[in-house]
Amino acid sequence: MAHTESPFDLTGHRALVTGGSAGIGLAIARGLARSGATVAVAGRTPERLSRALAELQEIRPDARAFTLDVSDAAALPGRWAEISAALGGVDILVNNAGTTWRSPAHTLPLDKWDEVIATNVRAPFVLAQLFARERIAAAEALGADRAAGPGSPAGVPESSRGGTILFTASILSEQARKDNAPYAASKGAIRQLVKALAIDWAPWGIRVNAVGPGYIRTDLTRPLHEDPAFSAWIVGHTPLGRWGEPDDLAGAAVFLCSPAASFITGQVLYVDGGFLATL
Ligand SMILES: NC(=O)c1ccc[n+]([C@@H]2O[C@H](COP(=O)([O-])OP(=O)(O)OC[C@H]3O[C@@H](n4cnc5c(N)ncnc54)[C@H](OP(=O)(O)O)[C@@H]3O)[C@@H](O)[C@H]2O)c1
Repeated sequence: MAHTESPFDLTGHRALVTGGSAGIGLAIARGLARSGATVAVAGRTPERLSRALAELQEIRPDARAFTLDVSDAAALPGRWAEISAALGGVDILVNNAGTTWRSPAHTLPLDKWDEVIATNVRAPFVLAQLFARERIAAAEALGADRAAGPGSPAGVPESSRGGTILFTASILSEQARKDNAPYAASKGAIRQLVKALAIDWAPWGIRVNAVGPGYIRTDLTRPLHEDPAFSAWIVGHTPLGRWGEPDDLAGAAVFLCSPAASFITGQVLYVDGGFLATL
């Protein structure tokens, strides 16, 4: 990288953000686009995707949108191949799509357990695997069996050559809350998966990290922020004294995906207004 370039610059990187049509994913997509990345968002609902795409194209006209249901396990490899080919490859995978089901553990229907785990753990693992296979094949085709070797996808700085994966963990990766067993289990799994994948794919220069949002005002948390008593509890237990907004995640996501984080892998960066720091 020339010294005049910002280490946060993502020019030349192609990013795919799952669950990028709303909430935290859309805010991350905006942040990546503002830093120069070509961004594609993926989600299930065409209308939400169209709205998100119109917004992103005001930042960068080359933004793209793709329908994708990450919980459709059988379709993932084929859909990944189509999306990656349409983008000419993916340098940054943001594994953000997620869901929850709130219920006391003893009455939790097992199909809801399966749905949360399929969306929040299995799908991001499969997408990470598809991403890594492509990056490893590309590195090996260039004759580089290690990231330190020569060669680079066009326009991508050497320090980002292996590519990067960003998961969306949660403060529930660390702590649990009533009526949230499958979600807490899924996000705890993501915390460990980030470490395991970071180790496995470091030889190819693929970095794997996560952002860990605290309580962020989105559709997913609507039942919580629309509950005045619960909302007051959140604000009272958050040292910075407010709910998070989706855009609060953008800076941490851009940082972790950028050359500024080139020696950071296997980490969860919590963006929680200090929530986890308090008793
Ligand atoms: N909000 C919080 O306080 C909070 C805190 C910690 C962690 N998180 C995590 O942050 C991530 C995003 O949450 P959010 O609050 O931004 O949620 P959100 O506002 O409900 O947005 C979820 C996004 O994911 C998409 N999506 C959902 N299921 C999908 C599927 N099966 N396949 C593809 N796309 C899917 C949605 O679009 P479609 O419905 O159209 O598919 C939407 O774009 C999740 O992993 C969540 O667990 C959120």
